[in-house]
Amino acid sequence: DKAQQDALKLEVAKAAITYVKDGIIGVGTGSTANFFIDELAKVKHKIEGAVASSEATAQRLRNHGIEVFDLNSVDSLDIYVDGADEITEHLHMLKGGGGALTREKIVAAVAKSFICICDESKYVPVLGKFPLPVEVLSMARSQVARELVKLGGQPKLRDFTTDNGNIILDVHGLTISDPIELETKINQIVGVVTNGLFASRPANVLLLATPNGVKTLTK
Ligand code: A5P
Repeated sequence: DKAQQDALKLEVAKAAITYVKDGIIGVGTGSTANFFIDELAKVKHKIEGAVASSEATAQRLRNHGIEVFDLNSVDSLDIYVDGADEITEHLHMLKGGGGALTREKIVAAVAKSFICICDESKYVPVLGKFPLPVEVLSMARSQVARELVKLGGQPKLRDFTTDNGNIILDVHGLTISDPIELETKINQIVGVVTNGLFASRPANVLLLATPNGVKTLTK
């Protein structure tokens, strides 16, 4: 149930704090990331501040008195900590359930190490059961949807506007056997801003919360 899952999210958020050394931390979006932000607040004296992957995360960081830096004022980040909607043993991820995929991918790109924090319900043999979010420029909606159908999916418009002012198509019905290839293909559709596959650049560390403790998988 939710209380049990929240307990696992809290446990894995605490485990991620051991990776926080100093400097500026890249911070993800979602309910698991929120637990991490609340734990980060307890060690905020150690760090200079954070770069946020969404307006919601920036607000939560500021509410804790953690300084939020513009990504353009930062040369590199040691770590980026975020959850995922699905993750495999190869540390390929499907993300964007919260709609923040584009900024997440950008902040993650700047980080030396992506630390993914999940409860065990996110660990899957193959990606795609969770609908794949694709951020799209509004004027390209129908054209991108047709191209996504050609790739075998059923795109559905989410009732949502991203922090960047774009729309999200959630693509149902995909069994993603080659996530790197599909990530590349979807990126080639004109009008697509970003898709929720994080496979070309997978996570470096997966902290996976189970009822028997937090497991660590690395790449
Ligand atoms: C946000 O856009 C997503 O990529 C999140 O990382 C994802 O939805 C995980 O969120 P939860 O931690 O709430 O499951």
